Parts: sequence; structure tokens; C-alpha cells
Amino acid sequence: MSATNTSRYTAVAIALHWAIAILILFMIWLGWNMDDNESRYQLHKSIGISILILSVARVLWRLMNPPPPLPADMKPLEKKASHWVHMGLYILMIAMPLLGWALVSTSEFRVPTVLFGAISWPNLPFLDGLRGNDIVHAILGTLHSKGAWVIIGLLVLHVAGAIKHEFAGEEGVLKRMIPGLFGSTAPPQPPARGFLVAFGGSALLFALIAAAPLISRSTGNATVPVPPASEGETQAAAPAAIAPNWVVDYDASEISFSGVHEGNDFTGTFKDWSADVAFYPDDLAKSAVLVTVPTGTAATPKKLYNDSLRAPEWFDVKNHPSATVRLSDFAKTDTGYTATATLQLKQRSVSTPLAFTLDINGDVATLNGEATFDRKELDLGQTSDPNAQWVKDAVTVTVTGQATRK
Ligand code: HEM
Ligand code: HEM
Repeated sequence: MSATNTSRYTAVAIALHWAIAILILFMIWLGWNMDDNESRYQLHKSIGISILILSVARVLWRLMNPPPPLPADMKPLEKKASHWVHMGLYILMIAMPLLGWALVSTSEFRVPTVLFGAISWPNLPFLDGLRGNDIVHAILGTLHSKGAWVIIGLLVLHVAGAIKHEFAGEEGVLKRMIPGLFGSTAPPQPPARGFLVAFGGSALLFALIAAAPLISRSTGNATVPVPPASEGETQAAAPAAIAPNWVVDYDASEISFSGVHEGNDFTGTFKDWSADVAFYPDDLAKSAVLVTVPTGTAATPKKLYNDSLRAPEWFDVKNHPSATVRLSDFAKTDTGYTATATLQLKQRSVSTPLAFTLDINGDVATLNGEATFDRKELDLGQTSDPNAQWVKDAVTVTVTGQATRK
């Protein structure tokens, strides 16, 4: 066994190598164990995109800091083999996340990607036209799935090579990739350079992509024509205007919604809405309320829910920026009142009873009410979850409101 004078990889290259290696191995396990579990899919996508960004940094770093030369006594063929295995691994480090990204960008289920629950990640825009194309989606899925096996194959060669050259032939190959901290005796590498290029460049790439949804959200909602209702839909007529005799105190009022996702309760509120209230306790037949809700203001504690609600198969905010609720047919009950709440959303019109209590104190009225809607009837989430496997059909809308008589 000959002693080697080959130096170690830079500390940054070593850190990136082991971080990416561990993440890729975890990702293969995770990919095989996602079983329709939405949280695991989101984690898979989050770590996968992180691997992509880290790999970009790693490639840039390598360009600035070429690897130390291989031991001089290593056979030329083995040097070549080692080089090509490395290149194969680099290609897959980039290609696997890109294939995964393309896979979700062409899926007919437009489930948003929210990295680590915090950052909205866009789909690849140039693949939008291929969304729902089964053949393209299946090819991408096969490549992504088989890619994992190619990584495993290359990894077997890679590890075998590293071990062979550490112990059986030229000494020091494995030590080149082991941090000095863990006892590597390989001499330190020459001074590293290119921090800004590698990490600034990859961070900039990440920031530009992550900024895209924010930019399109701030410019995208405006004047998109409302498509005509397809056959079988209940075409909603525009609700008639109302002459209000109460003024709503929005700071003391709230419209919230709640439902169940994967067995867990969720709630959210509409951050913005307006209501015209014509209510006559002594003349219920003359009473009517019209609430207008900008659907894009729906907010829950989870970013994934917020992004999902804005997406085409839910509120489709881009094409249908607002919904209305009209209250009519008021009647007195033993405990309060009932009315018919007619919700118009995405060209659909669905009516359901609203039960509410109303305390009128002088000129101030306080309302508490609740109505339950069926999201199937409202065509919400019917592409990815038509059988309510993840999100239950029933969604409860709760209203607490305060208004002053004009
Ligand atoms: C190095 C990165 C990645 C690795 C090693 C990896 C690995 C895997 C593996 C092994 C599977 C299971 C395939 C099978 O069922 O045979 C899988 C599935 C999947 N991956 Fe990845 N993945 C990576 C990155 C990504 C990224 C970045 C995304 C999306 C942004 C993604 C999206 C998906 C999806 C949607 C599936 C499910 C496919 C299906 O059920 O048809 N992956 N991945
Ligand atoms: C998915 C997991 C892994 C990937 C993607 C990966 C990838 C790579 C790549 C691309 C290089 C070339 C670095 C360069 O010259 O630019 C490399 C080098 C190296 N890797 Fe890995 N690696 C993985 C896992 C492992 C494991 C488990 C070991 C443990 C034996 C290992 C040991 C090494 C060693 C010793 C080197 C330096 C080889 C040399 O200087 O010729 N790697 N790895």
C-alpha cells in the first residue's frame, strides 16, 4: 500500500457531498413510502427542491474548486470509471429533482407545492400545456422512478470504488472525502474560493423562482373573462342589489369556515368582505342581505391550504375572484331566525339554510350564525379528491357580525 500525498476536498465540497448523499438516500426511501400521504409528498417535494439548489451550488463550487488529483498510482481505466460514475451522479442529482418538478407540473391534480410549509414553489410554466397529458406524465413518472434505481446502481459502484481504493490499492481516496474533524489524515486542501458564485448564484436562482408566484399573484387577478358554465352546472345569475338600512362594523365581524382534512380539523377566515344589510325585524319579507367575498382573501394557518384554496380546482381565484352569499326567506324560530343562504361561487349557485341568533340592543345588532355547504355541489376540489378521501365534503361557514342601524 503506497502512502498518498493527495489532498482532501475542500470543507465545503465535503459538507455538500455528505449532506446531498444523506438527503438523496432519505428521498429514495421517502419516495417509496409516501402512500397517498399529503404531508410526505410535500416533504418529498421540499427536500427534492433543496437537493436541486444544493446541487447547483455544488456544481458551481466544483467549477471554482477543482477536485484534488486522484492518487498517481491509480490505473487510468479506474480513473476514467471513477470520473464517469461521478458525472453520472452529478447528472442525477440535478435530473431527479427536475423530473420530479416536471412530474408535478404535468399532473392533473394541481396540488400546490409549499416548501417546508412556508414557501410557495411554482410549477414549470412551459409544461402547463402538457398538464393532464397522461402519456407525458407517465413517461416522466417512469423516468423519475427508474432514476432512483440508476442512482442506486451508480452508488454501489461508487462506494465499492471508494472502499477498494482506500483499502486495497492506493491509500487515501476515502480520506479525501472525510472531514478532518473525523480523523482524516489527508493534507488540507488549497485555499477555497468562489463562495459568492456558488452560494450567491444558487440562492439567487432559488429567490427568482420563489418570487415568481408572488409576482404573478400581484399582477394576475385582474381582467380574466369568466368562462361560460359548462353543461350540467347551475348557471348563477348576478344577485340583485340591496338598499341597506344597517352599517356593518367589520372590525367586530368575521366570516370563518371550517372542515376536516386528513382527519384534522382546520379553520380559516376571509380577511376581506363586504355586506349590504337590509333587515327589518318587523318585516322579514322585505329583508335581504348580500355579502361579497373576495375568494383570494381566504386565510388559514397553513400556507399549503391557502395556496390550495386559490388553485383552479378550489376557488380558482384567477378566474373567479369573488363569491357572493345572498340571504333571503327570513323566518323567526324559537331560538332566533333562519334564512336561505344562496352561495354563488365559480358559476355555481347552492342554497342551504342559515340558522342565526340576533340580539338587537337599541341601534346595534349582533349576529351569530352557521351554515353548512357541500363542497362537491360547489365543485371544490373535485379533481384531486372527488370522493372526499382527504377533505370531507361538509364545510361549515360561521358568521359573527355586528351592525348599526342607519
Ligand atoms: C434527488 C431528488 C429526488 C429523488 C431521489 C426522488 C425519488 C423518488 C422516488 C424513489 C420516488 C418513488 C417512485 C416510485 O414509486 O417508483 C419518487 C416519487 C415521486 N417524486 Fe421524487 N425524488 C426526488 C425529487 C423530487 C422532486 C423535486 C419532486 C417534485 C417537486 C418529486 C416528486 C415526486 C412525486 C410527485 C412522486 C410520486 C410519483 C407517483 O406517485 O407517480 N420528487 N421520487
Ligand atoms: C447518493 C449518495 C452519493 C452521491 C450522489 C455521491 C456523489 C459523489 C460525487 C459526484 C463525487 C465526486 C466529487 C467530485 O470529484 O467532484 C463523490 C466523491 C466521493 N464520494 Fe460520494 N456520493 C454519494 C455517497 C457516497 C458514499 C455513501 C460514500 C462512502 C463510501 C462516498 C464516498 C465518496 C468519496 C470517497 C469520494 C471521493 C472520490 C474521489 O476523490 O475520487 N460517497 N461522490
